[in-house]
Parts: sequence; structure tokens; C-alpha cells
Amino acid sequence: MTTGGEMVIFDDEEDFKREKLNAGKWAKVIFDIKDFDSRLIDRALIGCAVEQYQWTTYQNLASKSNISETKEAFIRNGFEEEKHLIKIGSLIQPLIRSKSLSETDTIDSLMKQNTVWLETAIITEVAEFAQVEAHQIAKDVLDHLLLDHMTHASIIASAFADEIDVSKIVDGRYHLQEGRPLQDQMAGVKSVVRQYYNRLKVGIETKVRIHTIISLETYILSQYQNFLKLITDERLRELYATICAVEADHVSMLNSLIDPSEPALELAITGELAEIYNHKRSMRLADKKIETPFKDAFGEDLEHLQILADIADDLGIVELINRIPVDIPAPEPSLTIDGYITELIASHG
Ligand SMILES: [Fe+2]
Ligand SMILES: [Fe+2]
Ligand SMILES: [Fe+2]
Repeated sequence: MTTGGEMVIFDDEEDFKREKLNAGKWAKVIFDIKDFDSRLIDRALIGCAVEQYQWTTYQNLASKSNISETKEAFIRNGFEEEKHLIKIGSLIQPLIRSKSLSETDTIDSLMKQNTVWLETAIITEVAEFAQVEAHQIAKDVLDHLLLDHMTHASIIASAFADEIDVSKIVDGRYHLQEGRPLQDQMAGVKSVVRQYYNRLKVGIETKVRIHTIISLETYILSQYQNFLKLITDERLRELYATICAVEADHVSMLNSLIDPSEPALELAITGELAEIYNHKRSMRLADKKIETPFKDAFGEDLEHLQILADIADDLGIVELINRIPVDIPAPEPSLTIDGYITELIASHG
């Protein structure tokens, strides 16, 4: 990471307006991922989640900033996150245009399939992250989430086994089984709050992993809430509302890990790193035909990181900039998802 101590010169007003005039094109569904790797759908969902979350981060930063140049930088970056969200989302939306869909699918069944995709994305990501997580409290939280989501996925899959073909979504990546029983997921507020880490001592990898999962959990919660607005089936409404109650705890649990003395700017930098690493992993999986949304977002997120580093430098937060790593390698877990979950269930049993 290079820092010159000079503010990055932003594109002028005309460029910003021109970008907006192009907004309609971002949502153009150009790609068909029907035949692509299921792992890429996970990455696209996680991509949407980190982009959505980073947009909110910039809104918060902008509302707290009293320097007009900095405020404009946050607003501009936030606008680009919105663009990234729509571009990456266009790979998998409307709903998830995947190999699991058939001509006769109804909106209800599309939403049911969608939730299995979301559950699968978080299960595969958390199972990898938890295995390589060195911070014990963070690892415990990840394990906790994994067991809950295993249950959510298997309840949805078994409840609607006659309507949706879950095997095409799970795609041999893991075996559906209950983790923690649903009634045991209704915890008291004291057990939600965990000991936060020390921002100066914790590894940046841990921060990025936790940030990625906070983004994903927040995204999943909002998806369930949106589905609740659309579905009429009583059984489904009850299930989704119950899952929402658990998801809200997951978000709180993860947020309680964050050091309260962490500057907002540092959180934004962590958010950029979460975006950058996700897009990088996506680009490795995507072939030429569909890599554009990830590549575009990756390039602009690197610029965002530089802008934040420059602002941090201007504010004299040098320590923060020195901690930005050049790269964080993708996790290389030693166990399969099933292998890890079996171990986890045995140790919690
Ligand atoms: Fe982005
Ligand atoms: Fe969750
Ligand atoms: Fe960004």
C-alpha cells in the first residue's frame, strides 16, 4: 500500500453524473450462469453482501464527517458500492437464476430455493473460515453460526423436499444435517455478547473474516425480511420469522466481537479488504464470460482502499495504514465441510 499524504483527486462532477446516467445498464442481465460452478454463486452472493454492507458503512461515515472533501469521497465510494452490488447481483438475479430453477417454479418456490442458496453460501464460507481462525473467541462464534445454519438449511430442505431440488444447490458440497436444534438457538441476551478483541493485537485476517460474515449475516437477515413481505404461506412465514430472530442474534454476536475503540475509518478499511479478497477469489473461479462484474468492482475497491489510506494518512493514523496487508491468501482448510461439521457436532454433543 503506497501513501503519498496527498488527497486523491476525485473525478469531477461531470464524470459522476455520467456514471449515473449509465445506471440502467448496470442491471442488464448479460450473463447466464446456469452451467457455472455452484461455488461461484456463493461468491456472487457474498459479493452482494459485502458491497451492500460497505454502502451502509460509507453512509455512516459521510454523516459523521464535517470536512466536505472527505464527505464527498465517502459519498462517491458509497455510490460505487451500489454500482458493484447491482453489477454482481445481475449475475444471479432475478432471484437466483441458477441450475436449480425450472419453468414451472412459482415465486414461493423461488424464494425457498433462494434461502437454500443463502444458507449454503454462509455454511461453506463459515466452515472454511472457522477452520483457519486462530482467534479462539472469533472461532467459537463462527462455529456457533455454522451449527445454527446447518439446522436452518436442513429444516428448509426437508420441509419443502417435494417442491424444490436442494441437491442441485448443495451440489455435493456438504451433507444436510441438523446442527443445533432450533429451540436451543433462542438464547438470552447475555449469551449473545462476547468478549471483544483488541484491535491492535488481533490479526487483520480475523478482522476481515468477521467483517465478511457480519456483511453476509446482515444480508441474509434482510433477504428473509424481504421474503416475509411477499409470502402468504403460513408455515413458511412462521419459519422465516423464527430464522430472522436467530439471524438478528448472529449479527449482534458478531458485532460484539469488534473492539469499541476501533475508529470508523478502520472499519471501512476492513470492509474494503473484505470486498477485495472476495472479488479476487471470484475472479479465480469465473471464466472470461462472466468475470467483468467482479473485475470492475475489484479495480474500484482497490481505489477505495487507497482513498481511505490517504484520508487516514491525512488524519495521522499511520499505524492503521501500516497494517494494511498486500494480500490475504484464501483459506486452505484441512477438512471437508462435512468432516469439520461432524467434528463440531461431536465436540458440542
Ligand atoms: Fe465495492
Ligand atoms: Fe446467521
Ligand atoms: Fe469499495
